[in-house]
Amino acid sequence: MSSSVAHDSNPNNLDALWKPFSANRQFKANPRMLVGAKGMYYTSHDGRQVLDGTAGLWCVNAGHCNDHIVSAVQAQVARMDYSKAFQMGHPAEFELAARLVATTPGDLDHVFFGNSGSEAVDTALKIALAYHRLRGEGSRSRLIGREKGYHGVGFGGISVGGMVNNRKFFGPMLSGVDHLPATYSREHQAYTRGEPDWGVHLADDLERLVGLHDASTIAAVIVEPVSGSAGVLIPPKGYLKRLREICDKHGILLIFDEVITGFGRLGATFGAEYFDVLPDIMTTAKGLTNGTVPMSAVFVRKHVYEAFMDNSPEGAIELFHGYTYSGHPLACAAGLATLDVYRDEGLFDRAAAMAPYWEDAAHSLKGTKNIVDIRTIGLVAGIEMEPRPGAPGARGHEVFTKCYEAGVLVRATGDIIAASPPLIIETHEIDKLFETLGRIIGEVD
Ligand SMILES: Cc1ncc(COP(=O)(O)O)c(C=O)c1O
Repeated sequence: MSSSVAHDSNPNNLDALWKPFSANRQFKANPRMLVGAKGMYYTSHDGRQVLDGTAGLWCVNAGHCNDHIVSAVQAQVARMDYSKAFQMGHPAEFELAARLVATTPGDLDHVFFGNSGSEAVDTALKIALAYHRLRGEGSRSRLIGREKGYHGVGFGGISVGGMVNNRKFFGPMLSGVDHLPATYSREHQAYTRGEPDWGVHLADDLERLVGLHDASTIAAVIVEPVSGSAGVLIPPKGYLKRLREICDKHGILLIFDEVITGFGRLGATFGAEYFDVLPDIMTTAKGLTNGTVPMSAVFVRKHVYEAFMDNSPEGAIELFHGYTYSGHPLACAAGLATLDVYRDEGLFDRAAAMAPYWEDAAHSLKGTKNIVDIRTIGLVAGIEMEPRPGAPGARGHEVFTKCYEAGVLVRATGDIIAASPPLIIETHEIDKLFETLGRIIGEVD
């Protein structure tokens, strides 16, 4: 049957697609296309090898097109493409859940699957609200996020998030949300390696919010252990512990959004382990499947899961929430194979062992023209440049595009360059990444 609508099948027609978080008109005028990937490298459309300094978008922690993960997904799609998610099950989702909770700290021993970090955040916020209601504390409906926080793009995530452009276009969002102050101060923290000494007192702002709203109205606090998207903001020493103490004192749930910090990024399985602070709920995605198939996982502690099981009638659905693709067979196959690779290649320990070399290489750029701060933790670096007068973000974008042309992929958030490579990176690749970045920052006006 022929269609009455004429379709232009020319692959060089870039018009139809609306790219996410991208300057579409600028991109289409000079597109950067990737056509292949293996290990630490992308292949660009013009046949160049581009060093992946960002693990895709902080997700390809085991490197690209890992043979074991690729084969597992290929085998699964041929065996069973999709399994009905509600009121039915398939073995791989249970196996993945069991293997995952064996890697989480404390009693974070139940897991709910979604497809993206944004969905994980919405899921976590909804679990927190329903948890209090089921326990007879339904007045606890307020959610506390943090300025400069990034929790994805759902209405829940942008409500508790604190990145202005992600919020200001989209109306009033969720009601009953308040924010802690951001933890970054260049004056007190510039060029810190790891956690800054200054800033633990900022956690005490939670006491102020409790004083303002009363604990009986507050359901949960959500923070990223390390903020990635806002430009690599590392928590001050003792800050997360202090938040935990204040939450405990007032019966408030603590949610860690570990979409970036989960699965080895800091050289530990999770940020909760790295910082030795146990949240009640933990969101993860990205590295969960090595970015191969979309998937997210929300971990909850025993008392959270049991509140749902104990306070719902026998035979009733305990949580009216879920996605068509929760626990998708392909994602589960990717997740299981990814966990094999992390374990067999010891990648989280490798990241920890490589972190000092990474830190030295990043901080060697200190003194380069326009750089005003360098922040590092695990295999993450944020390199902040002074914005061009009247053109915030322009310098960052130029550095990003010039690095790409020079064969290195980094990420620009405004004028902050973030680097977060696959955990398989070698020292000569770390050298190449920071040498290229330093040279280009030095060349750009
Ligand atoms: C901390 C955090 N939460 C949530 C998200 C959203 O994840 P997704 O883009 O998969 O929805 C991200 C994405 O970068 C993130 O860094």
